[in-house]
Amino acid sequence: MKIKKAVIPVAGLGTRFLPYTKVVPKEMLPVWDIPIIQFIIEEAINSGIESVLFVTSKEKYSIEDYFDRNFYLEYFLNKNKDKEKLSVLNRIPQNFRIYSVRQKEARGLGDAILHAEDFIAEEFFAVFLPDDLIFSQKPVMKQMIEVMENYNKPVLGVEKVPWKMVNSYGIIKPRKIKKRIFEILDMIEKPDIKDAFSNLGVVGRYILPGNIFSFIKKTKPGVKGEIQITDSLRILMKEQGILAYEFEGIRCDTGNKYDYLLAILTYASMHKELRKKIKRDIKKIFKINL
Ligand code: UTP
Repeated sequence: MKIKKAVIPVAGLGTRFLPYTKVVPKEMLPVWDIPIIQFIIEEAINSGIESVLFVTSKEKYSIEDYFDRNFYLEYFLNKNKDKEKLSVLNRIPQNFRIYSVRQKEARGLGDAILHAEDFIAEEFFAVFLPDDLIFSQKPVMKQMIEVMENYNKPVLGVEKVPWKMVNSYGIIKPRKIKKRIFEILDMIEKPDIKDAFSNLGVVGRYILPGNIFSFIKKTKPGVKGEIQITDSLRILMKEQGILAYEFEGIRCDTGNKYDYLLAILTYASMHKELRKKIKRDIKKIFKINL
């Protein structure tokens, strides 16, 4: 069974990144010279996804504009025969479809995903939360699709998070099936350390079943008065079962400032020349005493 569609919720307010996010979406922050959202779209394409739906909001139209063509810029670069710059302008294949729907009020991730109900007719679909930028050899969503194809069950991407951070994640109670693959026996959203079943936290990659929408509709507002997808998944888990997959890759939560900085350094360190320069310049920076 092929997964062809993905939902990318981008309607959150991004309060951890204020004041930057007052007018500019955090998904448009650059990692080196590429906006975070482009990494996400490329992960989707390289995982076999053919179309995505952005669940977006008022201040986020620049995300849709970014994936549109800019004819004036193309004309200008063509005139100057600047093939290199032209090639970076349109990296997304022409036949890759991007749709969008607006979430008028930030009522939580569950509510954002519910906006995809008319878009999804398939048995399974992918969800990407663009805050989580994951550098890996094989795209993480592709790794997860392989697990779904083997077991025919929904799959959540999980990672071992530091114990003191469990209160920032949906935490699962796992039963190991195979290396990296777990059955989820229970889950809890942002628990205190004493209530956490494990330190396996759900991160921003999900493969959900097409019937998830009926479970979201049954979900009452939870933490922060928002419709939490973890609460809907808990109902789904009891009725149909869900797997967790501990992916291979390095994740940076670019929704928080420090991890965003790490994302840039991680990306740069993957390029030989930049790696050398950064090593040298960081030493210099730490010698500065203001
Ligand atoms: P977050 O919990 O990180 O919230 O959302 P946020 O608003 O983006 O950021 P902070 O915490 O205020 O800094 C996780 C994902 O769910 C989307 C966000 O855009 C992000 O991709 N989301 C969240 C929505 O689309 N709608 C919502 O109502 C809430």
